[in-house]
Amino acid sequence: MIIAIDGPAASGKGTLGKRLADHLGFAHLDTGLLYRAVASVLLGQGIPLTDRDAAADAARNLDVSHLDAPDLRGAAMGESASVISAYQPVRDALLAFQRQFGSLEPGAVLDGRDIGTVVCPDAEVKLFITATPEERARRRHLELVRRGEDVTYETILTDIRRRDERDINRATAPLKAAADAITLDTTNLDADGAFQAALAIVDRKRSKT
Ligand code: CDP
Repeated sequence: MIIAIDGPAASGKGTLGKRLADHLGFAHLDTGLLYRAVASVLLGQGIPLTDRDAAADAARNLDVSHLDAPDLRGAAMGESASVISAYQPVRDALLAFQRQFGSLEPGAVLDGRDIGTVVCPDAEVKLFITATPEERARRRHLELVRRGEDVTYETILTDIRRRDERDINRATAPLKAAADAITLDTTNLDADGAFQAALAIVDRKRSKT
């Protein structure tokens, strides 16, 4: 079984995906980390993010064994990832790995922007997780401050709005809910509430198959 979770920045996809996967005994892939890792390779080599060929090369040669590196989760890397993720050859290069991951047994949870629309269009469960930009900025601010980053709420809110705009309006694999996705607005839900709501959707689906 594949559970596809999509949604905008800091909507809680990652937390939800991990909890669902742990609960169900499924594998979990935060696909945003792939794009963050590609951006990190470029920045590490002093290559500008506007170099599409270098970005595509970095994606083709990506070492996926370091996706848990803490620096990938920083605010700057999220912004950089959103720049290089708009390049089609970068997306193409990362597709096979994501699809392979989706075929893991007994199941896999993938979260990102285009999982239900492009990566796993046949996923049995598709969730689209949203929350207001203000609530997402509040959560991300808390997360980054806890990690020791010196950022203001206003900076995060501006970053989230800019990234939403870029992710929604790009020509390739834009952020949008799949036609058959169930939208879950978590503005007034905490992590537990979001998990319970998502699990109810998954259980309903599993009881039908
Ligand atoms: O955690 P957060 O939502 O802030 O970001 P992320 O999921 O790590 O994604 C970082 C950036 O990578 C996003 O702004 C997207 O531009 C891009 N991304 C994408 O294009 N497709 C995906 N499947 C996942 C991320």
